[in-house]
Amino acid sequence: MSNPLELQSKFDELKNQLNYHNYRYYVLDDPTVPDIEYDRLFQQLKELESQHPELVTPDSPTQRVGEAPLSAFSQVAHEVPMLSLDNAFSDEDLESFNRRLQDRLKNPDDIEFACEPKLDGIAVSLLYVNGQLERGATRGDGTTGEDITQNVRTITSIPLRLMGEGYPEVLEVRGEIYMPKQGFERLNQKAREAGEKTFVNPRNAAAGSLRQLDARITASRPLQMCAYSVGRFDGGSLPERHTEVLEQLHQWGFLINPEMAVVHNISGCLEYYRRLGEKRDSLPYDIDGIVFKVNNLALQQTLGFVSRAPRWAIAYKFPAQEEMTQLLSVEFQVGRTGAVTPVARLNPVFVGGVTVSNATLHNRDEINRLGVMVGDTVVVRRAGDVIPQVVSIVKSQRPADASEIVFPETCPVCDSPVETVPGEAVARCTGGLICGAQRKEAIKHFASRKAMDIDGLGDKLVEQLVDEGLIHSVADLYRLEASQVAELERMGPKSAENLIAALEASKSTSFERFLYSLGIREVGEATARGLSRYFGNLDALIAANEESLQKVDDVGPVVAHFVAEFLRQEHNLEAIEALQKAGVHWDDISVEERHEPLADQTYVVTGSFSLIKRDEAKKLLQQLGAKVAGSVSAKTHCVVVGGGATNNSKYVKAQELGIQTMTEEELVALLQEHGVL
Ligand code: IVH
Repeated sequence: MSNPLELQSKFDELKNQLNYHNYRYYVLDDPTVPDIEYDRLFQQLKELESQHPELVTPDSPTQRVGEAPLSAFSQVAHEVPMLSLDNAFSDEDLESFNRRLQDRLKNPDDIEFACEPKLDGIAVSLLYVNGQLERGATRGDGTTGEDITQNVRTITSIPLRLMGEGYPEVLEVRGEIYMPKQGFERLNQKAREAGEKTFVNPRNAAAGSLRQLDARITASRPLQMCAYSVGRFDGGSLPERHTEVLEQLHQWGFLINPEMAVVHNISGCLEYYRRLGEKRDSLPYDIDGIVFKVNNLALQQTLGFVSRAPRWAIAYKFPAQEEMTQLLSVEFQVGRTGAVTPVARLNPVFVGGVTVSNATLHNRDEINRLGVMVGDTVVVRRAGDVIPQVVSIVKSQRPADASEIVFPETCPVCDSPVETVPGEAVARCTGGLICGAQRKEAIKHFASRKAMDIDGLGDKLVEQLVDEGLIHSVADLYRLEASQVAELERMGPKSAENLIAALEASKSTSFERFLYSLGIREVGEATARGLSRYFGNLDALIAANEESLQKVDDVGPVVAHFVAEFLRQEHNLEAIEALQKAGVHWDDISVEERHEPLADQTYVVTGSFSLIKRDEAKKLLQQLGAKVAGSVSAKTHCVVVGGGATNNSKYVKAQELGIQTMTEEELVALLQEHGVL
């Protein structure tokens, strides 16, 4: 491509296509091409740019990766100040906001409000000149912020160049940069695994990610930006209502909040507030309230500002998800596998909509990381259904008599030694089923829905049964009599009868459920299923050594060790025997049913075969549990291509969709590996 004009237009076309696909994907959440097509275009552009570095422009999608670190952020003066919002904390506060509006406006009968979730992130200003992103800045003190252009450029939902037409010469878009909950969890999980510091909440994670002098770090963080207003605006006109302005921004390439709504009067606001309050926990991002704005821009003008906040808007806050309280003491709980978990006993505090008096401290590493002591003022976070966590401490408020948290050397329940496996953060009670706590947890697990599914046998009842000495092990459950159960708290003859009937019904089970219910460490439902399918019956499983256990899908040396160890211990074998004697039974899995390592996988077989017949290959794949289909789709797991037919249409389709392919030789090896050939 030697012609410079042709080259330029190829460049422009690629950039336009990529920017458009980026917008479809990140802003509209409605991509029109598969990821692989995007990757292909991106690769093309990168190659072209490496051949012609002089043609690389700042709006190129390749420039989102972050540049070399800055030594400091420079300052940015906001021509139009970035204001904050007044807060409301009750319906009364909102009603007095409404009265203030009515007092100032001459015709206040029907005020239209825009309602938007108040995103919990960092306010940002983005300046576009002739459609190009020129500068990104933080809010700072509202008048002066910091230049974070390098960092905002890495955020995929921020357009590097405005989409469509009709945008003004100068446009300043304002909005919130935030980290979605899922990305936050993943980021913290990675940090935990690497032994690094975690972030307290998604807001801090977003702030920390944005405050990086090295934009490559920002680029690696899952940030998003949602637009909520316009600052500077020269050379063009805007619609009359705030919500229409946001719709316009959406068309120019910005993400706007899909929950945004228009309501009439304060009653509409209150209804919206309640509705979003109920939805809060299920939203993919943190919000800390609702922002209500008078929707008519002319009315906004009339109302104007007081000091730092507009008169035409208010933020009605939700109950806080973080609160401060005192750590009164730390107790140690023993779980089913003996894990000893420190639990913080707190001065009760209302947070995230409930009163919290306990929070997990996870393990010794977490205690060290927090540097927490008994007596400290701690920050407790409860967001959604997640169990309350101590996320940080307020060291400046540490009392003189604060005491260190001492991990017990012996189990608080059974007094057996507690051991810490080197390299593991968890401390464990070594008492096994001698330990009352582990026994209770084991019985609760045995009775649970995905295990033996004993209806009516909840945690509280298990605790009573053990505490009253009516049962010591799972097998004892089947010796219970209605008259004994009826005596217990909150039980009576009828519920006792029901429990006995449920126990009776649970005796008829499946091998995989039974295996899962034993509560072997690291044996979840999927592993129990894998083991039961592979070995088919209990005797075969008990006879298996660690090496053969690892032939089961997803069973590695650690799990194999736990299984073998469990089935070696005399008391476990006795418990199993006692259960079978009590009448627990299941159908063994026949050889034909048993060996299905390729279950849930769909294969397509194409091309000419020479080592085995094609039909034979299909039959053997099916024998291993695979489905064999005639055409390639996104659901296909693998395409087997005979005769090296790389121009075969099914092969091409597989390549396009990024689906795995296999030669005839590889298929033969696979069939041999699974012992069907
Ligand atoms: S409007 C003049 N809308 O809340 C009005 N702010 O407490 C300026 N925020 O600094 C803000 N979501 O960072 C507006 N939908 C939303 C918002 C929102 C979050 C933040 C913003 C602002 C702070 C004010």
